[in-house]
Amino acid sequence: MMGFPGSGIPLLLVLAFLGPCFFGVARTSSTPAPESEMLLHESYAGKSEFRTVNRKELGSCLNPSPYLAVNVSTGGAPIPDEAFLKVTVSGVLKPDKSDWVAMITPSNSSVSGCPLSGVNYVETGDLANLPLLCHYPVKAQYLTSDPGYMGCKNTGCGKRDASGACQARTCAATLTFHVVNFRTDVEFVLFSGGFGTPCVLKRSGAIRFANPAKPLYGHLSSTDSKATSMRLTWVSGDGKPQQVQYDGGKSAASHVTTFTQDMCSIAVLPSPAMDFGWHDPGYIHSAVMTGLQPSQSYTYRYGSDSVGWSDKTTFRTPPAGGSDELSFVIFGDMGKAPLDPSVEHYIQPGSISVAKAVAKEIQTGKVDSIFHIGDISYATGFLVEWDFFLHLITPLASQVSYMTAIGNHERDYAESGSVYVTPDSGGECGVPYESYFPMPSVAKDKPWYSIEQGSVHFIVISTEHEWSEKSEQVFEQQIFILFHTGDVITFLKTLFVGHRPMYSSHGGLLPNVDSNFVASVEPLLLNYQVDLVFFGHVHNYERTCAVYQSKCNGIPKKDASGIDTYDNSNYTAPVHAIVGAGGFSLDNFPNKELRDDLNPVILNDIRCTSVNNIFLDVQIKGGTWSLSRVSEFGYARVHATKTDMLVQVSSSTFLHGQKSTSKTESD
Ligand SMILES: [Fe+2]
Repeated sequence: MMGFPGSGIPLLLVLAFLGPCFFGVARTSSTPAPESEMLLHESYAGKSEFRTVNRKELGSCLNPSPYLAVNVSTGGAPIPDEAFLKVTVSGVLKPDKSDWVAMITPSNSSVSGCPLSGVNYVETGDLANLPLLCHYPVKAQYLTSDPGYMGCKNTGCGKRDASGACQARTCAATLTFHVVNFRTDVEFVLFSGGFGTPCVLKRSGAIRFANPAKPLYGHLSSTDSKATSMRLTWVSGDGKPQQVQYDGGKSAASHVTTFTQDMCSIAVLPSPAMDFGWHDPGYIHSAVMTGLQPSQSYTYRYGSDSVGWSDKTTFRTPPAGGSDELSFVIFGDMGKAPLDPSVEHYIQPGSISVAKAVAKEIQTGKVDSIFHIGDISYATGFLVEWDFFLHLITPLASQVSYMTAIGNHERDYAESGSVYVTPDSGGECGVPYESYFPMPSVAKDKPWYSIEQGSVHFIVISTEHEWSEKSEQVFEQQIFILFHTGDVITFLKTLFVGHRPMYSSHGGLLPNVDSNFVASVEPLLLNYQVDLVFFGHVHNYERTCAVYQSKCNGIPKKDASGIDTYDNSNYTAPVHAIVGAGGFSLDNFPNKELRDDLNPVILNDIRCTSVNNIFLDVQIKGGTWSLSRVSEFGYARVHATKTDMLVQVSSSTFLHGQKSTSKTESD
């Protein structure tokens, strides 16, 4: 979440937010690389100049120890597709708490100090203390991560006299770095001077991945409502078409794409994605498996004989649109986090626990599909982070359909066609997002679609593209709605899914709800009798009454087991739920009196269970629409039949096992 409401925000305001140092961003110069170096630093995608612009003379520290060494635990061997590398710094004469190690890629990235690079982090909303190098390092750790470093618990000897006595006692530290195969070679660089004024002490030398072309991170998505075909998308350093082999003998060739300079940047707002945060994405392969049956399991692998094959994985197709039932998981704002003690750009602390919990749900075989509704990886222009995110979700997304909606952190940027002109995408402007997550949309940069799975009709919108009454997006979505609710399949539950919410009690510095968006789109929800609305963007869980124009048209009643039950047999208004607690640091609610004695109304049809029976009855912006609030990491799981829809929210209280999971996990 980060952004300003309204489409007419002046650029000047954005610049003011970024601070006075904005205009002083240091852009790096281009220096041709020697031919041998060019060979070493092989490009895995298209050829372009800007991927090598970050070359500068290295800074040096004064009087470095002559005994310094940086050794990596591979012992000279190439890195496998995933590893926890032990990096040992030895030969230190005087440990200093400002000593740190960066993991850089490719190994020719500029490690000079660029103090104003901090602006590039701020541009995407990240205010953390991070290394200010001229090219973004993948991750970094202070040597104090090794508790024995400052006290010199691990000693060595740099120099001995003729008798063998040590004349130069040295200290060492060992750090752990988690790495996944992002294709380009890696180097560990030892610095002193902290993150702000770094100088280079020693480098490890480049280490390559064992197979930079390895097909990795396969993830599935539905292509239409029939559930007889599934798209698989994966990444490789190889640009030749590969194949997905499935169902005991069938195969489909991949369509290969990549992206280079086709993102966005403007002169007064230089984009990290185009330079400071650039990382070669390799090639993105996508193939459609056809001739499948709905709700059936299939085994597949992807790759080629020349670059290797993935492991075999089993997936299940979702139920066909119009069939009896559907179970799905939905969340927003997940992102990623390091699996080691490193600092990285834009860490989402709940992402790992939520991803693991969803993976566990998948293992039960009771989840048909996943919906991730915006703010996907938070790479926001620091492109190597897409690989880490894809690695995180592969256990989930390789087994069931992983459907997405676009968020501000994938799309927004000035002069790029986004409704909101904040620099939240870091200059990506949806290009990496649409490359990695091809959805059944009508065209590029029109990331809205409708799809049916089981008894649910999903309308997935982009809150970042024009949504006014006459907009292309709204027109197309209305057509879909009319088609399906007219006379074809009238029993379907209609879910409206997007990123930015219409109702949120979270305060915060910036408003989370755009009144223009609400005024334009909310009437459609009522007109077309949308049952349930899911949004993210705000990092918590909140559920409303059946609400329209901030008034409760319908109030749920608790059933015998204490579950809030809404009656949609006499439709009054949609129920809204924010499910943005998928990983980003949580947003709290204002401190209001809680109570759980809402006046009951006879309702049935849609049920929402509650985690702690936390119900609020407070006046918020003139309404009493906020019924349930949970500020914990988690996700919603929904089971929909032709008559009922049960919504449960599994929160971090349960993820961390602090409460019995034998009870109804919910809300
Ligand atoms: Fe957001």
